Amino acid sequence: MHSTPVTGSAARSTPAGGAGPATAAPVLEIEELSVRFATPDGEIPAVNAFSLAIRPGECVGVVGESGAGKSQSFLAVMGLLASNAKVEGRARFEGRELLGRPADELNQVRGSRLAMIFQDPMTSLTPHMRVGDQIAESLLRHTSISPAQARARALALLNRVHVTDAERRLDQYPHELSGGMRQRVMIAVALACDPVMLIADEPTTALDVTIQAQILQLLAELKRDQGMAMVLVTHDLGVVAGIADRVAVMYGGRLVELGSVRQVLKAPRHPYTQALLRSMPRVDEPADAPLLTIQGQPPNPRRLPPGCAFHPRCSFAQETCRHERPPLVELGASRLACHFPVPAPATPPAEVTP
Ligand SMILES: Nc1ncnc2c1ncn2[C@@H]1O[C@H](COP(=O)(O)OP(=O)(O)OP(=O)(O)O)[C@@H](O)[C@H]1O
Ligand code: SF4
Ligand SMILES: [Mg+2]
Repeated sequence: MHSTPVTGSAARSTPAGGAGPATAAPVLEIEELSVRFATPDGEIPAVNAFSLAIRPGECVGVVGESGAGKSQSFLAVMGLLASNAKVEGRARFEGRELLGRPADELNQVRGSRLAMIFQDPMTSLTPHMRVGDQIAESLLRHTSISPAQARARALALLNRVHVTDAERRLDQYPHELSGGMRQRVMIAVALACDPVMLIADEPTTALDVTIQAQILQLLAELKRDQGMAMVLVTHDLGVVAGIADRVAVMYGGRLVELGSVRQVLKAPRHPYTQALLRSMPRVDEPADAPLLTIQGQPPNPRRLPPGCAFHPRCSFAQETCRHERPPLVELGASRLACHFPVPAPATPPAEVTP
């Protein structure tokens, strides 16, 4: 069933596939990022040799199960890791290195050119501060406009993210808003200074399905209208289908597959990506089609299996997989880390249906 092992040089940082021009300089270029946490029971390697370049205006969906290293990778980029973390590698944003930069310099970038939103708006919003003041605060910190102008811009931003009754909301506190409204306010805070890039970490997971769809629609609209680059971290491949240009799949702290959304969702080459896809409901399959679960549990980063970390759960594993970690290699327009990839289809995959 599987083809011969893929060999080749280590992956280069040139991105492939997706929407923006492939030649454009990346807005964010992460190279060989590693994050380790010191604990009383030893070190936890949460992220290992993670490289990813994001072009201006493109959206990269980052998927994988719980503990795969998705959040820590981007918290590292933002300089927001816990104090027991040790980071190595490089993360250049608009050509400037972010890792190891002093806090005051990072604060200049964070929240202005580069913004991040999280699953739970309450972790980002200040509970005892009015919504309008929170948006204005970001503007006053990063720009030289007057308080009156900042309030006017806060109102425009609330309208921009489709907060209803925006004038009244300006003077409300976060707890007076619904979960969906709070998420919109958090997006408004993130957008305040016209970021060139937004990192959204599970922005819809805590919301009910209808509100989830509305927030995703808003993010897609912002990407389209403002040309903002976006990283969308999620464990749900269905979420990336409607908005991402490329998909990065993480497993056990490593990138295991990267490709255009069409290639990854329609013709995955990594057995883990294939298993992830089979475990989610598809709109293009009959509603009664059986859903398969991925056998076994996600690996504990403290005790990653030797060789390919996915081997205990992989139905295609062979002896090599138990001893040799597959290197991440370029494979056409994609990148892949697997000794025995799923064969590519004879005809190119069709458009992805969100
Ligand atoms: N401060 C810390 N100390 C020790 N280990 C940590 C710390 N923070 C995170 N980790 C570990 O790092 C690993 C990667 O975590 P990460 O938050 O990146 O996962 P994730 O892919 O975002 O998962 P989820 O989908 O659950 O959010 C996990 O095993 C987590 O327990
Ligand atoms: S165990 Fe890993 S390397 Fe081996 S076939 Fe499965 S995914 Fe590929
Ligand atoms: Mg996470």
